[in-house]
Amino acid sequence: MKVREILVTSALPYANGYIHLGHLVEYIQTDIWVRAMKAQGHQVTYVCADDAHGTAIMLKAEANGVTPEEQIASVKASHEADFSKFLINFDNYHSTHSEENKEFSELIYRRLSSAGHISTKDVEQLFDPEKQLFLADRFVKGTCPECDSPDQYGDNCEVCGTTYNATELKNPQSTLSGSTPVLKTSKHYFFNLPEFEQFLKDWTRSDNRLQTSVANKLQEWFEAGLATWDISRDAPYFGFQIPDTPSDEPDKYFYVWLDAPVGYMASFKNLCDKRAGTEQALDFDRYWAQENEHKTEVYHFIGKDIVYFHALFWPAMLAGSEYRTPTGVFAHGFLMVNGEKMSKSRGTFIKAETYAEYLHPEYLRYYFASKLSDKVEDINLDLEDFMQKVNSDLVGKVVNIASRSAGFLVKKYDGMLSEVCAEPELLEDITKTGDEIAAAYENREFSRAMRLIMQCADKANEYIDEKKPWSLAKQEGTEQEVQDVCSVAINIFRQLMVYLAPVLPELTNNAKEFLNIDSLDFASRNQWLLGHKINKFKPLMQRIEEKDIEAMVEDSKASLAQVDAPAPAAITNNKPAAKNAAPEANADAEQADYIGIEDFAKVEMKVAHVLACNHVEGADKLLQFTLDVGEDKPRNVFSGIRKFYEPEQLVDKKVICVTNLAPRKMKFGISEGMVLSTGEPKTGLTVVTLPDACVVGDVLA
Ligand code: 2FM
Ligand code: ZN
Repeated sequence: MKVREILVTSALPYANGYIHLGHLVEYIQTDIWVRAMKAQGHQVTYVCADDAHGTAIMLKAEANGVTPEEQIASVKASHEADFSKFLINFDNYHSTHSEENKEFSELIYRRLSSAGHISTKDVEQLFDPEKQLFLADRFVKGTCPECDSPDQYGDNCEVCGTTYNATELKNPQSTLSGSTPVLKTSKHYFFNLPEFEQFLKDWTRSDNRLQTSVANKLQEWFEAGLATWDISRDAPYFGFQIPDTPSDEPDKYFYVWLDAPVGYMASFKNLCDKRAGTEQALDFDRYWAQENEHKTEVYHFIGKDIVYFHALFWPAMLAGSEYRTPTGVFAHGFLMVNGEKMSKSRGTFIKAETYAEYLHPEYLRYYFASKLSDKVEDINLDLEDFMQKVNSDLVGKVVNIASRSAGFLVKKYDGMLSEVCAEPELLEDITKTGDEIAAAYENREFSRAMRLIMQCADKANEYIDEKKPWSLAKQEGTEQEVQDVCSVAINIFRQLMVYLAPVLPELTNNAKEFLNIDSLDFASRNQWLLGHKINKFKPLMQRIEEKDIEAMVEDSKASLAQVDAPAPAAITNNKPAAKNAAPEANADAEQADYIGIEDFAKVEMKVAHVLACNHVEGADKLLQFTLDVGEDKPRNVFSGIRKFYEPEQLVDKKVICVTNLAPRKMKFGISEGMVLSTGEPKTGLTVVTLPDACVVGDVLA
């Protein structure tokens, strides 16, 4: 077999938001693919990084009172912790705010510039005179020039659907400072994408680089015409300065989307440097030099919303700067939960961290695997189906094979398997199915792979049901047969562990100990376990319980509603596909997580007096408040702070209640507001209390 040298990436998450289940579709998909290819003996390297630049990150750091460097360091640590919980096994995790990335971004830019692919143009944009910065569309609101609806963003009107330039809005206002923006002109740098039209047309249609639906989408974009791409932003901006720009202009920075994909190379280079001189040394040029294009393979896994960047800008940038282009770009769809877009109020906008508090990450890995295909289709996490499927497939079918047969072998035969396989045809059949499973993994048809694996598990269970070792064991003279039947079952179980290893690395690793084997590589399954001793069986997976799912949903409602969560920069995975017109605007929008003063003003907060506070039967996170907020009737409010307070500590206190929050129906009753706290639900929440002098019912402003 030829060992393939493969470099794989997942999209780089923004450094101003947490990882949620929508992101995990991609990281789990990529990780499974990487593990499957490694198990087939290929040399695969999987790199990623935080996407650390841009206005939103700069403003977020400012709001948090920290430097952008501090901001991105803490987010990176939290991303890495989340990825590790979900067993995402990067070979390297870096940051786009790195020396390597600066060097490559500058080098690529200089090469593009000397080849004549960069031009400049004066651009007139709205400028916030108070914040002293140019405003991306998402940071401007005003009245729609078409239908006169107030409060519309700078790129399109949510009422009439018209798209326009921010400069066309009537009565524009900066959402950052509330001030009236002024028009200001400055020089911008553009990448001349149209010069790559023919190259891109050929590239997208050849060598199966793209899924058909993606190639078709690109065709539409070609027909609409490619436009030059604005790759510069004026200071202040958190990013890399563009070299050799005129001194009489504000400092120019690379737009975040210019250096983001370069981050793939930078993370890989960082790994090459770390591994230099070791047995695992990697040669950077072997993967990125144009002349080596056919020696190694490079694949990018991405969400369908960022195809424009990866299938047009990125290959054009690489080709224009004499680097190799990706072998393939694989796009996936978005995540739905219970058939709808993830929703904070329904508790289905679930952080990776919250999920992992209640449920084992391998459940989700399996469920996503059972849903994923090579198509750009959205996938649905139906929480009821999730529980049923995991319990019935993994616990009921797969683990059951071992738990039904190991006991006899360990108790009666000292763990020894038979010397001869009693059902070679059955085992051969399952060994052979492995070839189809391997192909399904390689083609990213994970749902097909899972179906084939479960068919094998069904065959094993049917075999055990038919032979009934538990009845045989009670009869005289059947010792050999009982050992034979259980040995066949254990051999099939071992094959299943090999097949499931890319999806369930932890479970299969534990099974490896039990089976007393060294490897879960694909080829290892050809050596059947004969005259082999296994160890005592320990339960490998617990059933999912409904109460854990409910608790996770409740917690997601509480934590996302209650705490000032980092805004989900990465709702990327759940926003509609980028329209051809303005990928750039969308990209900036992606990072925008500020609200305007008018949004803030919508929240009504009142001084409340705690009349009563109690535990809630069956809810280990909640306290129930009876609050006087100066109305005719007291309000009932639930708050997720039980871990941190005894109810009596809060009785008679003056607290802050959000009084115009839509009433929320919870399992335990209706919550008619929210009590404000500070801190993190994990480490500790403190209810904000007010001095006694505050008057009940007074509005906070
Ligand atoms: O859409 C996003 O979340 C971006 N941060 C992805 C960047 S991928 C790559 F190009 F860096
Ligand atoms: Zn309108």
